[in-house]
Amino acid sequence: MSKNYKRYTVTSALPYANGPVHIGHLAGVYIPADIYVRYLRSKGEDVKFICGSDEHGVPITIRAQKEGVTPQQVVDKYHEIIKNSFQEFNISFDIYSRTSSEIHAETAAGFFTNLHGKGIFEEKTTEQYYDEKANQFLADRYIVGTCPRCGNENAYGDQCESCGSSLNATDLINPKSMLSGEKPVLKETKHWYLPLDKYESWLREWIIDGHKDWKTNVYGQCKSWIDGGLQPRAVTRDLDWGVPVPLEEAKGKVLYVWFDAPIGYISATKDLTPDWEKYWKDEETKLVHFIGKDNIVFHCIIFPVMLKAHGDYVVPDNVPANEFLNLEGDKISTSRNWAVWLHEYLEDFPGKADVLRYVLAANAPETKDNDFTWKDFQARNNNELLAIFGNFINRAVVLTHKYYGGKVPAKTELQPADLVVLDELKAFPAKIGDLIERYRFREALSELMNLARLGNKYLAETEPWKLIKTDEDRVKTILNIALQIAASLTIVAEPFLPDTAKRLAQMLKIKPDTWAAAGGQDYLVADHQLGEAALLFEKIEDATVQAQVQKLLDTKKANQLANSTVAPAKENITFDDFSRMDIRVGTILEAEKVAKTKKLLKLKIDTGLDQRTIVSGIAEFFDPAQIIGQQVSVLVNLAPREIKGIESQGMILMAENADGSLAFVQPSSAVKNGSGIS
Ligand code: 2FM
Ligand code: ZN
Repeated sequence: MSKNYKRYTVTSALPYANGPVHIGHLAGVYIPADIYVRYLRSKGEDVKFICGSDEHGVPITIRAQKEGVTPQQVVDKYHEIIKNSFQEFNISFDIYSRTSSEIHAETAAGFFTNLHGKGIFEEKTTEQYYDEKANQFLADRYIVGTCPRCGNENAYGDQCESCGSSLNATDLINPKSMLSGEKPVLKETKHWYLPLDKYESWLREWIIDGHKDWKTNVYGQCKSWIDGGLQPRAVTRDLDWGVPVPLEEAKGKVLYVWFDAPIGYISATKDLTPDWEKYWKDEETKLVHFIGKDNIVFHCIIFPVMLKAHGDYVVPDNVPANEFLNLEGDKISTSRNWAVWLHEYLEDFPGKADVLRYVLAANAPETKDNDFTWKDFQARNNNELLAIFGNFINRAVVLTHKYYGGKVPAKTELQPADLVVLDELKAFPAKIGDLIERYRFREALSELMNLARLGNKYLAETEPWKLIKTDEDRVKTILNIALQIAASLTIVAEPFLPDTAKRLAQMLKIKPDTWAAAGGQDYLVADHQLGEAALLFEKIEDATVQAQVQKLLDTKKANQLANSTVAPAKENITFDDFSRMDIRVGTILEAEKVAKTKKLLKLKIDTGLDQRTIVSGIAEFFDPAQIIGQQVSVLVNLAPREIKGIESQGMILMAENADGSLAFVQPSSAVKNGSGIS
């Protein structure tokens, strides 16, 4: 199973260009892929790291319609934003291309033509919903109606987001077109289908028998798809945004986005190098797809069947898909703005791309869904990056400056403790590399930190700052060894923390070296002059993370407000019922908190009739000093009641938000106190 490969093609899922990217994307796909690729490059492997924006598909056209712009404008905008975010986080793609490019349209159409020419596709005519007013067939996402399972009136043609059922558009009760609001009609249309069922035995042999090495979650999903029975899948759609189907009889149809998107990996490679074919068509190329778990079927079944049907291409050696990352206990959601957006993170934490890379890799959802919390972010920065990695480097470099003018001292006689440390140092690169090659990035990162820990512990135990007075020879050896560890860290930390590795290399005044050099006990030669000591990490304060938590709480509140359902109407009353209430405008003259209560204010109100006391449950939302002089609506003929020993003579009318916060019901301009409200 494990073959000797000559080169690598590593892809990471093409993100949809209909919104910016967030921490979930980074943790699940791009950081693991980037660690893998940086490691391979450091080993001297021939590797191409491929990505780009996925610019077709219905969500993009829907967003364009909502914003009143063209789909091209939508993808142009987000392509730039996404590309910049990746650059800022040092995701080292060899190319970040896009599927609205000419080269992609040609490649995807060519691929379709090739399969069509080989007679691979089945052609089928079926009835699908059509909007007679808008003159077009409706993609599933363009149809809304009542869910037959739960009664939600806003279910989509492919899924009810309320109960999670996956639906067919024809299942919906009262279907409506989102384009015109009209009831769509069923109309015949022809499409081209990829017969997945015909590839079942190949898939069984290739995955079920041949790839028991794949991650359990990936293997399990594939097995359940295959065991569940594969059906032919339509690879064309009646839409006008996408790659046109290259057939005369298919005018007005485009390739299904999940047919063209993975071909995007191929067209991006073409965009990168004229030598692209060897990265796709040579058996000695190892193809690896990094994706999130929602993409497994497309990368493990559909795309491989396309590649196999074509015949010229290699199929993936591995698809190390990850689970999902949650945020503070809730599912990340673009539509609910429940996310940490990468471009916003860097505004709030400039220069700290590596801190987020570290936290996300340490917490990567490799085997199960994981949670990102700001508290954990702070703890990992302060207790790991700063306290272990940063502290070790700082001690080693500062002491070398202090005792030896920044020149690496030569080792003298080695003691058993030194030999143990040097042996451990030697073993680390292989240990870390092996874990990376097996896609176990969290463990690899934790081994990287163990190397920094080793250095820290060695200095703490040998205490060169004490020995300097009694045994200078010993200090020379200790600092030399500590600096060898620091030098190795520039190499083995690079895949995970590229900025940090670069700054460390500058501090040690060494050039980036290859993986093979890591672990060496004489990597830094005696007398080599170090650069100035600089801090690699800084403490993240409580207030900083609290501000981020507050930002999320504000989002939650805004969502609750937006989604709050209005209380149902009460029973009808007569006009007489209403007229029995005497509601008037009054002015607040005095306000003070009622002692030993959280919610109550004692108010003195000029009602025009008199000045009276009213106790009101508004203390959580108003500062007494700020409300004096405000006009409010007062129910003046409410029977007096005693509240906390105070007689309250009436009631102030308040409007209540969904989150329970209150606002006064006030006249829009000043009126005379005592004016009636009717
Ligand atoms: O799920 C997604 O975000 C898709 N845009 C991924 C596409 S991956 C590849 F096939 F292009
Ligand atoms: Zn439902």
